[in-house]
Formats: sequence, structure tokens, C-alpha cells
Amino acid sequence: MKRGIVPGTFDPVTSGHLDIIERAASLFEDLVVGVAHSPEKGGGPLFSVEERVDLLVEAVRHLDNVSVRAFDTLLVDFAEEVGASVIVKGLRAVTDFEREFQMAALNWRLDADVETMFIMAVPEYMFLSSSAVKEIAKHGGAVRGLVPDHVVTALERALKPAS
Ligand code: PNS
Repeated sequence: MKRGIVPGTFDPVTSGHLDIIERAASLFEDLVVGVAHSPEKGGGPLFSVEERVDLLVEAVRHLDNVSVRAFDTLLVDFAEEVGASVIVKGLRAVTDFEREFQMAALNWRLDADVETMFIMAVPEYMFLSSSAVKEIAKHGGAVRGLVPDHVVTALERALKPAS
């Protein structure tokens, strides 16, 4: 049985990410969630990479075969480092397709031994993204259910105006 890897920025982990991780965990003997530093994404992540890892560790606590690690290298190099041969990505609306198709093709070009596999998001989470969650939370909207409960608390703390 192969080891899978679910990579992402996870700023922060959403219920949609968690659904993909749970479904991937049932397909592989063990699964590594790779948290990319991604310092340049969306003007810089809201949460530090350490915070994103901690939020994920808490979110996957119920999954025995899942571990969480940060990485700051090419994804294919990280996959090799952890001994994973399959990259698992969640696919939401059609807008994801072009970017994911490009990344899968480039990763294949970089290392053809690492396969990319897609899991379709469930309709409930089809339009859910970390950036949408942050935008809603920033404006005081309700994000409960869109992210695990401990992430709601972390968002409140991170977005609290400095006093
Ligand atoms: O959750 P995201 O931000 O869509 O995930 C993107 C991620 C982290 C998977 C992607 O940016 C990535 O693989 N970064 C590592 C650097 C790398 O390998 N880049 C080349 C792939 S095209």
C-alpha cells in the first residue's frame, strides 16, 4: 500500500480540506499532510506555518494514519523525503481545474514517479476556500461549520482588533 500526501497552504484548514483528508486517509495506509510555507500567497498567510500545522494536528487528531508536517521545498522533493508516491488534491469548482492541471503537469515533469490524484469536493464544500473563510470572518460573519470549531476560535483571536 502506498503513502499519500495532501499538500496545501491551509491558511487555515477548512471543513472542505478536512473532508478531503479524511477520504484520502481511507484510501492509503498512511497519509502525510504537507503544509507549505507559501510566504507569498495572497499577500502573506494570516497564520504562521507553525500555527497552521498546530491547527491541522488538532483537526486530524481522530485519524490514526495521518501526520502533519511543514515543508519549504518543491512538493515532489518533499514527497520523496517522506516516501510518498501519490499527491492527493481536492478539486472544487471548474475554476480549480486549470491551476491544478498545470501543477499536476509540472510536478509530473519534475518527477514522473510521483502520481497526482484528485478527489472531488462534496457539493457542500464545493465553493469553500480558506480565503473566503478569512473574508467572512474579517467582516464578522459566521464561519462555524465552514471550519473546525477550534479554527473558529483561532480566527477570532487572529482577527481581533489590537487594543
Ligand atoms: O492550498 P494551495 O495554496 O492551493 O496549495 C498549493 C501548493 C502548496 C500545493 C503548491 O503551491 C506547491 O506545491 N508548493 C510547493 C512548491 C512547488 O513544488 N511548486 C511547483 C509546483 S507547480
